[in-house]
Amino acid sequence: MDKIKSLTGMLDLYDDGDKTNLPAKLFYLEKKIRDIFLSYKLNEIRTPILEDTNLFIRSVGGASDIVNKEIYSFNDRNDKGIALRPEGTASVIRAIIEKKLDQTNHKLWYMGPMWRYERPQKGRYRQFNQAGVEILGIPEGMPEFEMISIVCSIISEFKLQNCTIKINHLGTQKNKESFCNALVKFLEPFKESLDEKDRQRLKKNPLRVLDTKNNETQNILKDAPSIKEFIDSSAIDLLNSIQNNFSDICNIEIDYSLVRGLDYYSGFVFEAVSSELGAQDSFLGGGRYDQLCAKLGGKDLPSIGMAIGLERFAELIELKDNSVKVVSFLCVTGNLEPKAYKIAHQLRSLNKDIILDVHLSDTSLKAKLRKANKNNSDYAIIIGDEELKNNKAVIKPLKNELEEQLTVSIDDLYSFFKSI
Ligand code: HAM
Repeated sequence: MDKIKSLTGMLDLYDDGDKTNLPAKLFYLEKKIRDIFLSYKLNEIRTPILEDTNLFIRSVGGASDIVNKEIYSFNDRNDKGIALRPEGTASVIRAIIEKKLDQTNHKLWYMGPMWRYERPQKGRYRQFNQAGVEILGIPEGMPEFEMISIVCSIISEFKLQNCTIKINHLGTQKNKESFCNALVKFLEPFKESLDEKDRQRLKKNPLRVLDTKNNETQNILKDAPSIKEFIDSSAIDLLNSIQNNFSDICNIEIDYSLVRGLDYYSGFVFEAVSSELGAQDSFLGGGRYDQLCAKLGGKDLPSIGMAIGLERFAELIELKDNSVKVVSFLCVTGNLEPKAYKIAHQLRSLNKDIILDVHLSDTSLKAKLRKANKNNSDYAIIIGDEELKNNKAVIKPLKNELEEQLTVSIDDLYSFFKSI
C-alpha cells in the first residue's frame, strides 16, 4: 500500500533531544520569546487558524502576493470561502472589533502556525510559525520605541550576530499614494525592461517593485524617486531618533527603499535581516497600520505590530548546554517500579527546577546509564532490590568526575534533591 506523506513545505517538528536540530531550537525559542513578551506586560491572544477569506483580501490586500497566489483557501460545506490564516494581524483586529474593544489600548502577543502556498526552499515553508506583537490604540511615537525595544531585547537575548534592523517611514496614506504615483510615472518608460513579475507588480502594487530581486530593475531603481522626498520631516526625525537611541544595542539602518509585502502599512515600517540566512534573509517584520481597524469595520485604532518567523530565527541560534539540571531516575528491576515511581513523584514535588527523567523501559542498568549520559543528565539516582529493601538509593554523579558515588537513605536522597 502507498505510504501517506506529509504535505509539501510542512514539517513534522519532533525534538529528538539533539540540540542542533530545528525542532529543539524552535521549542526553546518559543519559551524564551514568550518570557520576553511577558516581561513587557503584553497579553496573550489566540485567534482561530481559520478565517473568512475576505478578512485577508480586505486587510493584507487583494493585489498582494499573499492573497493573490499564496493563500490556502477552500469553500466549506456551506459554500463559504474559508482561509487558513497567512498572518496574525488581521485576525487580531477582527477579534478586537468583534469584542467591541476597538476603542481602548491593548498590548498583545500571539504565537502559532501560519500558512502560505509558497515554493518551498530554505527558510520558506508552507506551514511556518510566527510570534507576533500588536500594540493597539496609541498613535505614532512611544509604541515605535517599545516595538524596537522588544526586537532589540530578542536579538540581544540570543546574542545574534550579523543582523540588521532596517527601518523606514512610508508617511501618511496620502504620502504613500503620491510616492506610488511618482514611482509609476518613473517606471512606465522602463516597462519593457522589467521582468514579468515586476511588470505585474507595477500594474497591481507598484511599491513592491522596490523589493525586486532582478538586477536590471535594481539598476533602473537607482535613479527612482525616494520616499524620503514625500514624507514629513517629523517622520525622518522619528527614524533618526530610533536609530540614535538603539544603535548601541542593535545594528539599525535607515533604508528608504524598505517596503513591506502587506498592503495595510503606512508610517513606520521595519524588518530584521541576517546575512546568515541566504535568500530568505528577513526573520522579522512589521510596522504601523493605523487604517486597518476602520477598514475592517471598526473604529479608528492607531496600531503597530510585528511578527517573527520562528523557523528562520531558529536557524540563527545555537542552543547552549541547558543550565537546567537533569537527573535520571533508574530503576533496576521492573517489579520495583511502582514503589520507586512513588519516590520519583515525591522528588519532583521537592524541586520544581530539576528535570527528573524516569527511565521506564525494562533494560539493563548499563543501557539505562548510557541513555542517562546521552540525555545530558547531571546525576543518576539508582534504585535496585537491595536499595529498596534497605530504604536506600544510589546517587551517581555523571558530569562531575570529582564527585563520588554515594549510597544514601531515602530521606537523605530527598534532602540532596532539594539542594541541587
Ligand atoms: P511578514 O513579513 O509577512 O509580516 O511575516 C513576518 C515574518 O514571517 C517574516 O519576516 C518571515 O521571517 C516569516 N515568514 C513569512 N513567510 C514565511 C514562510 N513562507 N516560511 C517561513 N517563514 C516565513 C507579517 O506577517 C505581519 N503580520 C507582521 C506584522 C504584525 N505587522 C504588523 N503586525
